[in-house]
Amino acid sequence: MSIWTHHKKIEKNATLLLVLSFIVVAIGGLVEIAPLFYLQNTIEKVQGMRPYTPLELVGRNVYIREGCYLCHSQMVRPMRDEVERYGHFSLAAESMYDHPFQWGSKRTGPDLARVGGKYSNDWHRQHLIAPRSLVPESIMPGYAFLMERDVDGRDIVDHLRANVTVGVPYTEEMIRNAQRDLFAQARPDSGDVDGLIERYGDTAVVADFDGQPNRVTEMDALIAYLQMLGTLVDFSTYDATARENLR
Ligand code: HEC
Repeated sequence: MSIWTHHKKIEKNATLLLVLSFIVVAIGGLVEIAPLFYLQNTIEKVQGMRPYTPLELVGRNVYIREGCYLCHSQMVRPMRDEVERYGHFSLAAESMYDHPFQWGSKRTGPDLARVGGKYSNDWHRQHLIAPRSLVPESIMPGYAFLMERDVDGRDIVDHLRANVTVGVPYTEEMIRNAQRDLFAQARPDSGDVDGLIERYGDTAVVADFDGQPNRVTEMDALIAYLQMLGTLVDFSTYDATARENLR
């Protein structure tokens, strides 16, 4: 009796076939996927990546709360049409501090992974208040109410700490100054800007994003977030094959 007679049993018994197929696929999956959770170099480190500033982090929360990800992806795929439209394809490292990641699965609007610096702060404010005043054919909803919602920053320290528990390298100093940094980024004239830049580097853009100098609103936070998307890695010097880019 050869092994093939046994195989006949499997082929004739749908349940057995299903169970055995599942086992085989599960083993394959484990072998391929499990090591990625433990390998140090699953995500290649890339120069320029830093944790979000407190204001960007608040903006990111607004982005998630308002469901922007339902219409916008944040991942440029390595295909010619995408790279020509949006810029350099996304690197794994660029979302290493995203918890949860915002790759998205639907593009009703364009990909936003590299939208930072593409428009002015005024453009974003106007576009978020009334999208059709700038893009007449747009079907994006307006978010004018963000202009009226002040950021209170009461939970920002806890928020940074929560990120630390999942591996984001916020320092004790960043946590201690989180509340100050949160407001400093939207108040160019405040005396706290230097500390913010010292802690997060000069890729932290400081501006009165919403055009209301006396208030720090969710509009400030959301625009601060949009303006830094995809700007941290300098692709004029980045070479995917060069060792000196890896640190
Ligand atoms: C119902 C789907 C939908 C939702 C929800 C949505 N958008 Fe959009 N978005 C669009 C469409 C469509 C466009 C393209 C037309 C335009 O520019 O308005 C767009 C364009 C944009 C652009 C300009 C992108 C570019 O490269 O020109 C930005 C920035 C943007 N959206 C941000 C947001 C943010 C932030 C949110 C959440 C607060 C959001 N969108 C929610 C559909 C949506």
